[in-house]
Amino acid sequence: MKRYFIAGNWKMYKTVPEAVSLASELKARLSDCGEKLMIAPPFTALQAVAGVIKGTNILLGAQNMGPEESGAHTGEVSVLMLKDLGVSVVILGHSERRHTYGESDALINIKVRLALKHKLEVILCVGETLEEREQGVLEKVIRRQLSEGLKGVEPSALTDVTVAYEPVWAIGTGKTATPEDADAVHEFCRKVIAELYGQNAAKQLLIQYGGSVKPDNVAALMAKQNIDGALVGGASLKADTFVPIAKFR
Ligand code: 13P
Repeated sequence: MKRYFIAGNWKMYKTVPEAVSLASELKARLSDCGEKLMIAPPFTALQAVAGVIKGTNILLGAQNMGPEESGAHTGEVSVLMLKDLGVSVVILGHSERRHTYGESDALINIKVRLALKHKLEVILCVGETLEEREQGVLEKVIRRQLSEGLKGVEPSALTDVTVAYEPVWAIGTGKTATPEDADAVHEFCRKVIAELYGQNAAKQLLIQYGGSVKPDNVAALMAKQNIDGALVGGASLKADTFVPIAKFR
């Protein structure tokens, strides 16, 4: 049976006490959930949340990572620091990093390779803006984000990579891609991965959908052949919305 990867990206929300409270509730209410689960609190709450979810079925994720192991990088957090706290997954190339903070495909690629070198799992986010979709360059953008983002990644390391398709226009807007539209882009992602790594790798690859995933639309999205999970923003901030998403079946 297909096992889905349901992840919560808490973005810049939650103080430490708030994060501990949410993580504790999720730990209790998701202990019987059979999907692969991850929560990514802000950096400041990682250590406290690690203490709560250690030994449970919920993986600890980080929302970003610096491009080097150490050095003079004011404001950055290193892969070694994340590993030290028990982080096992890192989200890279999120559209908010790409578009608000100007992260390039080349920078994202450096981070992807560094994370994989240190055996962190990577969620590599890709997605087009509304303008790109309307201009008909969706496939060009996705192909570039995937091939540049994964440049130099060995086939053996691809098993530690999940792709998240997050159309920028659907993030935090309440607009979701229809399950059919999302599935078509996921299928295209798989085609690009097949070109880069072969059919087998493409078949194995997990592709999450992200963008206004809610308890009432998750089942229809997950029913699609090429959708293997969800990367959830707003609805991951409350147990009452994240739990039903994780337990959609
Ligand atoms: P929303 O679920 O709030 O649209 O956010 C999606 C997202 O960006 C997850 O990384």
